[in-house]
Amino acid sequence: MMPSAIVTGAGSGIGRAIAIRLAEDGYAVLVNDLKVQAAETVASEISTSGAKAQAAAGDVSSEADAAAIHQAAVDAFGDTTLLINCAGIVHQSLFEDLEVADFDRMFAVHVRGTFLMTKRVLPAMLAARSGVIINIASQLGQVGGIELSHYAAAKSAIIGLTKSLAREVSSRGVRVNAVAPGPINTPLVRALSPEWQARKAAELPLGRFGEPEEVAATVSFLASPAASLFVGQTLGPNSGDVML
Ligand SMILES: NC(=O)c1ccc[n+]([C@@H]2O[C@H](COP(=O)([O-])OP(=O)(O)OC[C@H]3O[C@@H](n4cnc5c(N)ncnc54)[C@H](O)[C@@H]3O)[C@@H](O)[C@H]2O)c1
Repeated sequence: MMPSAIVTGAGSGIGRAIAIRLAEDGYAVLVNDLKVQAAETVASEISTSGAKAQAAAGDVSSEADAAAIHQAAVDAFGDTTLLINCAGIVHQSLFEDLEVADFDRMFAVHVRGTFLMTKRVLPAMLAARSGVIINIASQLGQVGGIELSHYAAAKSAIIGLTKSLAREVSSRGVRVNAVAPGPINTPLVRALSPEWQARKAAELPLGRFGEPEEVAATVSFLASPAASLFVGQTLGPNSGDVML
């Protein structure tokens, strides 16, 4: 059976580039997004290229939707061998003005969503003593971000979850890692204020934002046997914004 991947939030930006790259790498890909049309467009784009893909719309922060997304993948391609938790949102607010609902939504999509999808795929991976989970964090989860405290906190939580799960399951054949991109040219970053974008661009040693395909290349590496020693790591395709 061919390897199969679920990519959440794959209707746009980084998730879309990851889904396309994994299909090129030989995975059958379950393309999830909250937006039905976006998921279907990317899935048919991949299918047209001759690879296997299926769309499954759904909200990763919903327990029922997470179960349905996973079931759609299993029905189409068998047990999932690779999970990419990429679905995400951004919202900008000074901490003093931050509403409880915006804080809660940030944690629901990023942290609860990563938790729910991981809970679903993990049992079969452990039974097979094989599998890879890659969580898309952010460099802001490592250094914080002005007007993005809820976003940065959620991304730090993803890094903590990644390290803890990696400690629990690596000896049982499942590799868990995170990728913490810097600013990448996607609709998510373009939603931030021009002032934020200009300030961030001026700070970058590389002098430019990244492209989604450059993050997909990091994910492709982490998913591959070449990354067999990478366990609980957070790789940073970030234009030099954060150097660890
Ligand atoms: N663009 C960047 O600079 C950057 C940097 C670091 C990390 N990231 C992270 O990368 C990931 C992808 O971001 P992007 O820049 O490609 O953004 P994007 O807006 O282009 O794509 C995100 C996709 O996730 C989907 N989504 C949102 N909530 C969802 C939910 N609850 N369930 C399922 N799908 C949902 C959206 O519909 C959208 O299609 C996010 O986790 C983001 O936080 C982005």
